[in-house]
Amino acid sequence: MSQNKIPLAGVIGSPVGHSKSPALHGHWLKTHGIRGHYIPMEVGRDAFKQVIRALPRMGFVGLNVTIPHKEKVLELADMVTDRAALIGSANTLVFQDDGKIHADNTDGYGFTENLRRGAPDWQPQTGPAAIFGAGGAARAVIASLIEAGAPEIRLSNRTQARAEAMRVEFGAKVCVVDWIAAGNMIDDAVTVVNATSLGMQGMPDFRAPLDGLKPGMVVTDLVYTPLETGFLKAARDAGCQVVDGLGMLLHQAVPGFERWFGVRPEVDEAARGAILRI
Ligand code: ATR
Repeated sequence: MSQNKIPLAGVIGSPVGHSKSPALHGHWLKTHGIRGHYIPMEVGRDAFKQVIRALPRMGFVGLNVTIPHKEKVLELADMVTDRAALIGSANTLVFQDDGKIHADNTDGYGFTENLRRGAPDWQPQTGPAAIFGAGGAARAVIASLIEAGAPEIRLSNRTQARAEAMRVEFGAKVCVVDWIAAGNMIDDAVTVVNATSLGMQGMPDFRAPLDGLKPGMVVTDLVYTPLETGFLKAARDAGCQVVDGLGMLLHQAVPGFERWFGVRPEVDEAARGAILRI
């Protein structure tokens, strides 16, 4: 990047108006005194390819990618990291000086980093992980738990076929549990995750029985509106180590900001505040 160029980044998707990323990156840019901008861009499927090709020529150094482009973008990228290929989608693009597009997925990194920071004693390799949900968000969670050394991943989903597909994809560490008996998979788990959208504002409550939760288990919810979901409240009441889902959003943003703007930003109370204020 030449000295007087103003670096631009942003998030591209549809819808994109609800995204908290502009507030977070805007906060970091300000904190570090960087003369750059991070812009939300509403772009549908029709224009996506054209826009992605044009942005590097307009001063963009990279992008976050969100619904509905996270999978499709892998086809357009010149380089795809192993973890993006494994998860099957990308959320972070870096435009290189030679014009090539580098695609990464930092969701799994955000997930594990959030747990490592929020529950410093967390030892994922010491026992099974239990995951409720087998949608797009669960894929990143499964990949990162396998990477973190979890010996077994128990997966339960309302639509069992989606969980079965994950087992085929991620291999024998994944075992599928009937949605009716989902509560049972918690019993001797070390890590317990809600990766469904249940409990989110406007969605039904999470209803699987949670009486298997025990002190010491590390429990997290990918839902962060509200910050304390019914799932996390049950875990807190049971004496578990509870980590809310907002931290995953914060941590997944760190590698992108660092690559685009050259500074590794801090995930601290001020960064959390920047997101919570909007
Ligand atoms: P995301 O990218 O957030 O994972 P998604 O791919 O739509 O979004 O996945 C949503 C998850 O929440 C899925 O596991 C979904 O279960 P299905 O695969 O059966 O749809 C789960 N979910 C959503 N609404 C649900 C409900 N009412 N009861 C049980 N699970 C639900």
